[in-house]
Amino acid sequence: MTPQELTAAFLDAYGPGRPLTLVKSPGRVNLIGEHTDYNDGFVFPMAIGPHILLAGRARTDGKIVARSTLKIDGKPAGAVEFSLNEPITTGSPSWGNYVRGAVAMLKRKGVPLVGMDVLIDSNLPSGGGLSSSAAMEVGVGRLILALSGESMDNLPLALLCQTAEHEFANTPCGIMDQMIVASGVAGHAMLLDCRTKEPTFAPLGNDATVVVVNSMVEHKLGGDDHGGVGEYEKRRKSCEAGVAYFQKQNPAITHLRDVTLEQVNAAKADLDDVIFRRCRHVVTEIDRCLKFAELLKAGDLTNAGRLMYASHASLRDDYEVSVEELDFLVDTASKLDGVYGSRMTGGGFGGCTVSLVKPAAAEKFLADIAAAFQAKYGKDPVRFATPATDGTAVIG
Ligand code: GLA
Repeated sequence: MTPQELTAAFLDAYGPGRPLTLVKSPGRVNLIGEHTDYNDGFVFPMAIGPHILLAGRARTDGKIVARSTLKIDGKPAGAVEFSLNEPITTGSPSWGNYVRGAVAMLKRKGVPLVGMDVLIDSNLPSGGGLSSSAAMEVGVGRLILALSGESMDNLPLALLCQTAEHEFANTPCGIMDQMIVASGVAGHAMLLDCRTKEPTFAPLGNDATVVVVNSMVEHKLGGDDHGGVGEYEKRRKSCEAGVAYFQKQNPAITHLRDVTLEQVNAAKADLDDVIFRRCRHVVTEIDRCLKFAELLKAGDLTNAGRLMYASHASLRDDYEVSVEELDFLVDTASKLDGVYGSRMTGGGFGGCTVSLVKPAAAEKFLADIAAAFQAKYGKDPVRFATPATDGTAVIG
């Protein structure tokens, strides 16, 4: 929907009244640096064109009423209602947990908040691994802050939204998604040091187009609703087991960020094979991420692209978070003209690939990769080229 259409839909749903506040909150792709954020490493994401749009208006009774224009499993998403004057907990419909979580964390922080009516629209595929949940959390956060006449910097807001994801969506994520969604800069990717939380914005230039292709395998990182541990959390625990081993050698080691590849290789005989490979992925991926940023700066897209393929192989073989459809998309991309590099992006177990493609080859790339995927899996993959966009902002 356009902002005008969403405004009209809001007035339909909630009736006339004071002017609305509109917030736009983008999704993200990560160019490289995967499963490194919770290891205090580096990531290199950018905000993308597809986004969530929120329209809101303050209420005086402390209630939050949220509706969505989207259908879930073919049915209307259902309204979410809760009060700032009562403890905020998870509930149904489950999409509302992102709204509840973001509001609850701001309230816990002691920010004086007003109630609000909000209508949410999205052209970001949910379950596509493009951070629709972070877009929702940060978008809700920015909206209620604006309606309450409060301000907050991007980093503290991203940290609160990360906690919301942990506590309200049962996903023990790192800081990458909320941080890039909150603080993206148009035309730039963000090299984030996840230890200091210090971002450096790197211009993407005009020599490569970023293309996203969805494997159409729904990505799910959280545990189940019965306390089951998801694959994402298992990966985190393997990294912690690696840290526990290296810490015995050197107590100053607190994260895999502090470990070198030489140390990992030297520990091969001592470590369980799975933990060894998880550690090897993280340590090599942090290195690839830093090298990628340097190569991009130097305009060496050919070698930057090679690092994307290497990242994918490491995520597939050592970290084991890829799926066949993602491997197929990367393999297909590697055979098409004008492609610098391609890899799965985000947490994995489905979701999307990101490819760097020569601008003149992008259109044909999109058509060819879709045809190949269709021929193999009988599905038309969601796909798009995207510039790097600005992070979440009040737009009206
Ligand atoms: C998900 C998490 C991020 C990050 C990636 C993997 O997107 O939300 O914090 O760990 O997976 O890089």
